[in-house]
Amino acid sequence: MPGSNDHIDDNARRYGTQAISAAAERLRSGGLVAVPTETVYGLAADSTNASAIADIYRTKGRPDFNPLIVHVPSTEAAGELGLLNGLANKLAKDFWPGPLTLVVPKTPDCPVAPAVTAGLDTIALRCPAHPLMQELLNISGLFLAAPSANKSGAISPTKPQHVEHSLGKAAPMILNGGPCESGIESTIVAIRGDDYQILRPGPLTSDQLQASTGKTAVNHQGEKIEAPGQLASHYAPNKSVRLDATQAGPDYYHIGFGDIAGDTNLSVNGDLAEAATNLFAALHVADASDRPLIAVAPIPNTGIGAAINDRLKRAAQKD
Ligand code: TXA
Ligand code: MG
Repeated sequence: MPGSNDHIDDNARRYGTQAISAAAERLRSGGLVAVPTETVYGLAADSTNASAIADIYRTKGRPDFNPLIVHVPSTEAAGELGLLNGLANKLAKDFWPGPLTLVVPKTPDCPVAPAVTAGLDTIALRCPAHPLMQELLNISGLFLAAPSANKSGAISPTKPQHVEHSLGKAAPMILNGGPCESGIESTIVAIRGDDYQILRPGPLTSDQLQASTGKTAVNHQGEKIEAPGQLASHYAPNKSVRLDATQAGPDYYHIGFGDIAGDTNLSVNGDLAEAATNLFAALHVADASDRPLIAVAPIPNTGIGAAINDRLKRAAQKD
């Protein structure tokens, strides 16, 4: 059980409580810390501190119309920031802590800095499962705004080295929690009264959401972009990416899947969860290789494959 004493002891052994205390202190004084989650590494700051939030946008080179996810230690804490109706509570009960972000109306006295929500009257909330992140939330007592810890538009980080590589000199203190388990950013669900919409596919599949809520997601198109971060080009390597490649010539670093061996293979057994875990690391390796181009084998669009293909489509898109 995340959050139980067993876990705390386990983490103290693996990481040392000192690192967590130092990170909490840094965050309390308005600094940034790169933090591990079960999805990807985040670039965290105190969500109530306007200048710390400005620092996140600056460090990532992120456009200021793109709001941030706020990480909370519990559903109860989420209730201080957002209004969770019955549907939101049901999803939180079934999937938190875990890779689910809920977009809900802000509470009237929501204490987060306005820049966190980029002027929207909704807020994105997530209770992450990584035990180290849970401890950090509990020890710091802060609600942590944290986008993925990469330069805006670039490949998301699933290892501490990816954070260093993407942010370079601007990389802050990194809390090392090892490689991220699910490897793809959280599923973002907007609550719309008694209905819900999937704004970003992720590790939690539409089937799982349907089983929990007893209904399918609606596909309401708002007038403005609903998850402003979901712009076409994203997660993008510097090199051009070709998708659905069963074969690739010598100019390509070929990312394989299942029977299509490639130069590296996302999952030899064709396991989609394993492929998701390995996806961003493979893109980082491909981008750093001596081949000028990248090709990726076809990935089935079922289950978490939908999230993998969503990321690949954006990685292949140039602006
Ligand atoms: O797994 C994750 O969600 C990771 C880890 C660090 O928690 N975080 C992450 O954050 O992926 P980021 O900033 O890379 O993506 C956040 C997405 C963006 O697409 C943003 O537009 C959307 O969440 N978002 C944030 N607040 C929103 C809101 N109020 N309404 C709609 N979309 C929102
Ligand atoms: Mg991101």
